[in-house]
Amino acid sequence: MSDIKKIKDEFFQKLKGNLNLPELNEIKSNLFGKNGIISLQFKKIGSISENDRKKFASDLNKIKNELQDLINNKYNEIQNAEINKKLEKEKIDVTLPERNFVRGKIHPVSQTIDEISSIFSEIGFSVEEGPDVENEYNNFTALNTPDNHPARDMHDTFYLDEKRDKLLRTHTSPVQVRTMLNDKPPFKIIAPGRTYRSDSDQTHSPMFHQVEGLHIDKDINMGHLKGCLNYFIKEFFEVEKIRIRFRPSHFPFTEPSAEVDIGYEIKDGKIKIGEGDKWLEILGCGMVHPNVLKNVNVNPNHFQGYAFGIGIDRLAMLKYGINDLRSFFDCDYRWLNHFGFDPLDVPTNYRGLSR
Ligand code: PHE
Repeated sequence: MSDIKKIKDEFFQKLKGNLNLPELNEIKSNLFGKNGIISLQFKKIGSISENDRKKFASDLNKIKNELQDLINNKYNEIQNAEINKKLEKEKIDVTLPERNFVRGKIHPVSQTIDEISSIFSEIGFSVEEGPDVENEYNNFTALNTPDNHPARDMHDTFYLDEKRDKLLRTHTSPVQVRTMLNDKPPFKIIAPGRTYRSDSDQTHSPMFHQVEGLHIDKDINMGHLKGCLNYFIKEFFEVEKIRIRFRPSHFPFTEPSAEVDIGYEIKDGKIKIGEGDKWLEILGCGMVHPNVLKNVNVNPNHFQGYAFGIGIDRLAMLKYGINDLRSFFDCDYRWLNHFGFDPLDVPTNYRGLSR
């Protein structure tokens, strides 16, 4: 058998089998590389007797073309197989049911905090924040509530260490201390945030929300406090008239101190704010005690002002008709879907985003 015939038989056989790309490349270079089998046969032409040369050359050309065709076909075959494999993986099953589309809702407490912040910002208050983990000095001592003061027991504090130095803040009032220590008067701030007390029932949750207010300047008096709260409550509940009652009270950090009640009545099973002869307590307030000002390096002979602390959750419950405080923190998606707010739907009295 001639060499050419042998080559043909051997490589035709090989090229018909299953090959991957590297194997095919190897065959190609074995045949047509610089010292490849076919290339060497071409080099032999010159040494072949004139009689046989023509036939040899023509046979060689023929087999060269055949082998090249086979190799090219094989390349196409391998490429197609790869594409098919990819397509197989990317196959889209159009019978699958579509994914649920869930649009998040804004929690009523977040919504209420936003509303409160925008109402106070209208009259010049800026927003401050403080940490949930406080030290006992900021939470009590600086606020004129020394150790053994009975008010400390009333707060049902969560202490975080044996020395009772670190605690979860029991109110937002320590933000007053932080703000005044950090800056110079005048101050006109609100501070919304989480607060903690060891207490739990239908109207108390161990974690709840307050917003602190503080206005200190040269001539701020109780009249300003009343005017400010009156404005806020009317704006918040979106009513023209509101009945407000300042009841004498006691907080170590204010003198005089008051608790504020708003009038309401129940009509057709629904609570109506501002009317009726029932009273509901919503906040504590007073004129900042001179001892507090001294503790934060503000001279009480030159500066004075008021502070207040509002329970946010209770306001949200009243405004949006929610009757169990604990539902705020149950993380029940159906509840949130019902009471939550559409993030793209800006309520009429919500001025924070619309400007
Ligand atoms: N910190 C008080 C409380 O949690 C509320 C308050 C704040 C009272 C500011 C007076 C002034 O009960």
